[in-house]
Amino acid sequence: PMQRRQASKQRFVAELSQCLFDFVIQLLPTQEEMAVKEDVRKLLERLIRTIEPDSRLLSFGSTANGFSLRNSGERQCFCGRSEIGSKPFRGALADMDLCCLIDSEERLSATDLVTMLGDLLERETKFHVKPLPHARIPIVKLSLDPSPGLPLGIACDIGFENRLALENTRLLMCYAMIDPTRVRTMVLFLKVWSKRRKINSPYKGTLSSYGYVLLVIYFLVHVKNPPVLPNLQQMPPLRPISKEDTHLNGHNICYNTGVASIRAGLIKKEVKGWQNEQSNGRYNDSRERNRLCIEDPFEADYNVARCVTKDGLYTIRGEFMRAARILASRPERAIVALAELCE
Ligand code: CTP
Ligand code: MG
Repeated sequence: PMQRRQASKQRFVAELSQCLFDFVIQLLPTQEEMAVKEDVRKLLERLIRTIEPDSRLLSFGSTANGFSLRNSGERQCFCGRSEIGSKPFRGALADMDLCCLIDSEERLSATDLVTMLGDLLERETKFHVKPLPHARIPIVKLSLDPSPGLPLGIACDIGFENRLALENTRLLMCYAMIDPTRVRTMVLFLKVWSKRRKINSPYKGTLSSYGYVLLVIYFLVHVKNPPVLPNLQQMPPLRPISKEDTHLNGHNICYNTGVASIRAGLIKKEVKGWQNEQSNGRYNDSRERNRLCIEDPFEADYNVARCVTKDGLYTIRGEFMRAARILASRPERAIVALAELCE
């Protein structure tokens, strides 16, 4: 009976892998959609250059790292870091994260740029524009109504000089490229599942997509034995490198000497000063922020999961337990398990 159970488990796992792959394939963005997004980026870049001639507008986040979902599924909720510290923009889609880099020495402040760009876009385009010049990180929020190429419309945020986000996007993209089938299948499924089960809303106390992606990479690098992915932050450099190459705003962005937990494995909370013990039955702010700890790969003192509250963590854990239960029950057909998971 033991062997029979083993064989049935293997069959289920093989069938589930195939189902996951088939499911995720349908969720990839269409060529048309990617072309429309690129057109939008170019248009916006052209307009920004009328204000700052030496600027470039670059995509980061899912549009650039290979983990984006098709614009015909469900509404997603915005979860870029640019919003931390300011109020959420309800109902927006997290379709495109854009970062404006300015190559000249003399440049306008981010606040002035956001104000001027907001006015310009309002005048010259059909976008709905919401400039947030006084947010902790000033950004312009834009959205476009649905069209045949983008059945759900598009929403994008333009931030300024967020070079670390470009670097962490590049790191995630490299991980996606190492083993595209398995890494992308797993990440995209986790994104869909966490959105459907409503545990992908940093403003409501759960985790951002970025946090989930880091957890998947952590799992494939440090938990699976033998590892599915190599540790890119510990690869020796191919050529001699200087400090200018490895540091950005004081943060180490070199893959071989970082201290990120996807690099370093499981670190004790105390080592990072990220404890969250209870005091007098209440949680003060800093403790509440460290319930779940995911170290940013480059900004090692930044806890990507600081948005996760006590209730949020309870819900997330409950969802993982529910998923484990469904998978352990091994329904007759793997597709049934998938459907139930994403109910
Ligand atoms: N980011 C970050 N720190 C965070 C959240 C996000 O630096 N706490 C940056 C990362 O560069 C990340 C990008 O913002 O790749 C987008 O984050 P997010 O929207 O969470 O991930 P996406 O992959 O874009 O997922 P979604 O499709 O749900 O928007
Ligand atoms: Mg995003």
